[in-house]
Amino acid sequence: MKKLVPDYIENLEVYQAGKPIDELAREKGLTKISKLASNENPLGPSPFAIREMTNALWDVHRYPDMFAHQLKNSLCELYNLKPQNIILGNGSEGIMGYICRAFLQPDEEVVTSENTFIGFLILAKSVGAKLIQVPRRSDYKYDVEAMAKKITPNTKIVYIANPDNPTGTYITKAEFDYLMGHVPSHTIVILDEAYFEFAQGQWDYPDSMTYRYDNVLTLRTFSKAYGISGVRCGYGFGHDYLIGNLHKVKLPFEPSLIAQKGAFGALKDYPHLVRTLDNNKACYTELFNYLTSQGFRPIPSVTNFVTFKTGSEEASLYLFNELLNFGVIIRPLRANLMPDHVRISIGTKDEMTHLYEAMENVLPKFIAKFGKLL
Ligand SMILES: Cc1ncc(COP(=O)(O)O)c(C=O)c1O
Repeated sequence: MKKLVPDYIENLEVYQAGKPIDELAREKGLTKISKLASNENPLGPSPFAIREMTNALWDVHRYPDMFAHQLKNSLCELYNLKPQNIILGNGSEGIMGYICRAFLQPDEEVVTSENTFIGFLILAKSVGAKLIQVPRRSDYKYDVEAMAKKITPNTKIVYIANPDNPTGTYITKAEFDYLMGHVPSHTIVILDEAYFEFAQGQWDYPDSMTYRYDNVLTLRTFSKAYGISGVRCGYGFGHDYLIGNLHKVKLPFEPSLIAQKGAFGALKDYPHLVRTLDNNKACYTELFNYLTSQGFRPIPSVTNFVTFKTGSEEASLYLFNELLNFGVIIRPLRANLMPDHVRISIGTKDEMTHLYEAMENVLPKFIAKFGKLL
C-alpha cells in the first residue's frame, strides 16, 4: 500500500534549537541569562539595521520587492558582482532548501564530512538524497582527500561548511584547489561561508569571491557577524545558470520586507562589523586560554564559537545542565554525533565573565565526577 509520508521524511528528526532565553528564565527563576548556544552576534543588530527595519514597518501592508533591488545592489557594490549572480533567501538555510529542491533528486549522492552543519544534512535527506559522510581527520578538519575519493558519477553535491560548524576548522586554499581538481562538472560544490567574516583574515582561507567556478555556489548570511538572525536573511552567489534555476523554485517574496531592510541597513554599518570582530577576537582568545588552563583541549577555531571534548556524553550533559542552573546556555553536540563534545559561542565581555563565574562553581564538581582531562 502507498504511504502518506515517504520513508525518508518519516525517518527524519525534528531540528532541536538551543533553549530560548525566556523559557530558561521562567523555568529556573533566573534574572540573568547568557545564551552562548547559537553563534549569534552578542552585540546585537546595528542601529542602522534597526532604523531601516523600523521605518519599513509602515509598509508591511505591501508585498516586498521580489527582486530585492536595493539589497542586491548593496551586495553588488560590496563584492563587485552582477545582480544575476545573487540569490537571497530566508537565511542561508532558506537557500539550501532551494538548492535541494532545484538540483537534488532522490538517490543522488551528497558528499560531505561527518559531524558537519546539521541544517544542510536534514534538507538533503528531505528530498531523498543519499548522504555520504566522510570521517574527519584526527585534528577535526575535513578530510578533503578522502572526500574526493567518494565522488562518483552519482554525486550531485559536495557540501563544505567553510569554516565548519561545530568544529570551527576550515579548509585551506590548497585543500580547496585539490578538491576542485577532483570535482566533475556535473557536481555542484556548496561553499557554506556562514562564518566568512570571522575567518577572512586567515591568509590561507579560500575566499570564494576570488574564485570563479561555474559549479560552485557560495552561501553567506546576515545571521552571524551582521547580527540579524531573528529576521532571516541570507545570500548566495554563483553562475547565472545555477542562480537563474534557483529563482524558479524560490518563493517570490522571500526574504520579507523587514529582512531585506535589516540586511541593507546592516551592510551600511561597517564600524558595527568591526566592533563585532574585535569583541570576538578578544573574547575568543580569552576563552581558548581559559579552557586550556582548566585542562580541556579546545579545537582551534576561526569562528565565533569554540568546541571541546568533555570525555563522554554524560560529562557533556552534566556541564550543560549545571551551567544552565547558573543561567549560562551552551550547546551539547549529540545531534552532530559528537556527544562527548560541547560548543560555546562567544558572547560579550559581560556574558563571558558570567560563563567563567559559573564555571568556577561547576568545574570542581565536574572534575570530582569525571576526573581531570589532562
Ligand atoms: C555552517 C552554517 N551554515 C548555515 C547556518 C544557517 O544560517 P542562516 O541563519 O543564514 O540560515 C548556520 C547557522 O548556525 C551555520 O552554522
